[in-house]
Amino acid sequence: MADILYDFGTGRSDPETFPVKALQEAATTVLEREADALTHYPGGLGHAGLRRVMAARESEREGVPVDADNLVICNGSMQAVTLTAQALQEQKGDTVIVEAFSYPGTLSAYRGIGYELVVVDLDEGGMCMNHLEETLNRLQAEDRLPRFIYAISTYQNPTGFVMPKARRLEMIALARRYGVPIIEDNCYADVHYEGPVEPAIYALDDDPNHIYLCSLSKILAPGMRLGYILAKPPMLEKFLARRFDAGSNTFAAAVVAEFYRNGIGAHAEVSNKLLKEKRDLTLELLSTHLQDVCVWSHPPGGLFIWVRMPDDVDRKKLWDESQAAGVTYLPGAAFHWQNQNVPYLRLAFGHLTKQQISAGLPLLARCIQSSRSSNEPRQFEDLFSG
Ligand SMILES: Cc1ncc(COP(=O)(O)O)c(C=O)c1O
Repeated sequence: MADILYDFGTGRSDPETFPVKALQEAATTVLEREADALTHYPGGLGHAGLRRVMAARESEREGVPVDADNLVICNGSMQAVTLTAQALQEQKGDTVIVEAFSYPGTLSAYRGIGYELVVVDLDEGGMCMNHLEETLNRLQAEDRLPRFIYAISTYQNPTGFVMPKARRLEMIALARRYGVPIIEDNCYADVHYEGPVEPAIYALDDDPNHIYLCSLSKILAPGMRLGYILAKPPMLEKFLARRFDAGSNTFAAAVVAEFYRNGIGAHAEVSNKLLKEKRDLTLELLSTHLQDVCVWSHPPGGLFIWVRMPDDVDRKKLWDESQAAGVTYLPGAAFHWQNQNVPYLRLAFGHLTKQQISAGLPLLARCIQSSRSSNEPRQFEDLFSG
């Protein structure tokens, strides 16, 4: 197999803007200042300094006060996904509602924990509320109401869609009516390029059942393994009670808290600028090479573009040819709740150089063309219908 030179598969932020020097300085500062804290176990909530900085991050974005004592620092937001799901489960086979296409890490975790996934349709505004209502109604009649609704409502993975405020309010009303908590995964918050920033669920409604997850992987680096849960008591205590790892890495948290001591804005401005250029370049190349063949999302933030291909693309052939050409991507099946072989793929553009994007995308486009059984122009105009 050829070496993979063009990896459109992995959802990582941009390595070029990773702030090595500033983190070195922060590490020196915290080793001198917080050596004693490193000789202790951190405890369930985690590093107080990072919790304060992340509470300020949330509060500034959302315009509501956020209490640092309601934040639980986790080993990436993936631990937050897992911990919250474990704590809310009553028995194996409990149901949980997810979007029709969702983050594979979450789908695997929920399956592994023993949840039955129930999907709700997705459109350009995120989870469809009519279908959510219908689904909740049906599950209630079957006495199988979900333990929670999992929604990636901003820069959704894989589609990049954002749920508008009006729809968020509908989701809140439905969740309240059926007594079901919402877990909002806002992993891509602050990877923002243009347009309005829609409010987080917790900023729209102070119901203590709302649970919010966020990450530092996408604004800084996944190797830091830092993320958090934001929740109110008594929900918060449920999560802490299920935590058996004595807390998250104090050193990583302290370094990042020091790096972001004046807020996340300055670094986000630098990294988002470059990420936006890469998104724009990817969109432009898609238009140049696949205009008549595919349609794709135009995400106002996040790290992904969701591409719909004609049904006549032989997906196995496409995969084999792309790998042989040194290009990789994530196939639509990875995001499907049953891993169905759907005619989609996800392009991650954040960590590639612009040169790699410029060279890799035309190769992928050629593989898509040559994996088709016809040369007909596509028969669909948008990502989902027809
Ligand atoms: C929606 C979503 N949630 C959670 C995660 C996990 O991120 P991390 O554990 O690095 O914070 C990811 C990673 O891609 C994601 O896309």
